[in-house]
Amino acid sequence: MNISLARQTALVTGASSGIGQAVAIALANAGANIVVNYHSDEEGAAATLNAVTQAGKKGIIYKADIGQEEEVLAMFAAATREFGTLDILVNNAGIQRDGKFSELSLEDWMAVINTNLTGQFLCAREAAKEFSSRGKTEYSKALGKILFISSVHNIIPWAGHVNYAASKGGETMLMESIAQELAPQGIRVNSIAPGAIKTDINKSVWSDPVQRKKLMELIPYGRIGEPEDIGKAAVWLASDEADYITGATIYVDGGMTLYPSFASGG
Ligand code: BGC
Repeated sequence: MNISLARQTALVTGASSGIGQAVAIALANAGANIVVNYHSDEEGAAATLNAVTQAGKKGIIYKADIGQEEEVLAMFAAATREFGTLDILVNNAGIQRDGKFSELSLEDWMAVINTNLTGQFLCAREAAKEFSSRGKTEYSKALGKILFISSVHNIIPWAGHVNYAASKGGETMLMESIAQELAPQGIRVNSIAPGAIKTDINKSVWSDPVQRKKLMELIPYGRIGEPEDIGKAAVWLASDEADYITGATIYVDGGMTLYPSFASGG
């Protein structure tokens, strides 16, 4: 298999830590230049940029709240000014604001929907516009690629996290509908749905021995995922090796979506 993203530019949202950071670095190692978007972790963004440079690729850091339309427009303008165009969007930025359903505030509901769903919409729309206005390139079979970083909670209901699960369920229909609409233009749109990946978002779970043991019971493959597990899948899905794949969700979850509690019951 010959995977190369040479001459391509990828914009990765939420690239200052965790999955976004690993995806950005993996794409750079495969030959892409990177726009490192971040919201609050400036140091993390600098570390990502440093790894991109180490890989011999160019990168820029761009601070933007993807839930704010003007900031998204300005980010895409800056990215295309710097690199001429974009070839890959990784819609990764996402947040959790957990709470018991009957006590969940409108603020926590809106914050999660705004970043995880509206932000993904805004970035995907701007990427699609850029791909269409730029036209076909000779270095990629697709006109452009959009990759959503979803979650197993796009199909696994999650008590105490209803805003997050609703955003991920919505994101799946957003991804599939965009994929359907843009396939005739040659734009591929897909999702990676990670399971439990060791990042800051779930640190309180994997760093606590009791909670970690309970989590492990949900992972048939017997290990917590690493951000690099997602990076590898992202590189492949963004490359021409996956050229016939659009509208798909690939679960990278160690079997979490296999209903492990049914292994000895039902
Ligand atoms: C969540 C993590 C969680 C994992 C598995 C992810 O989407 O962000 O907090 O550990 O799903 O439940």
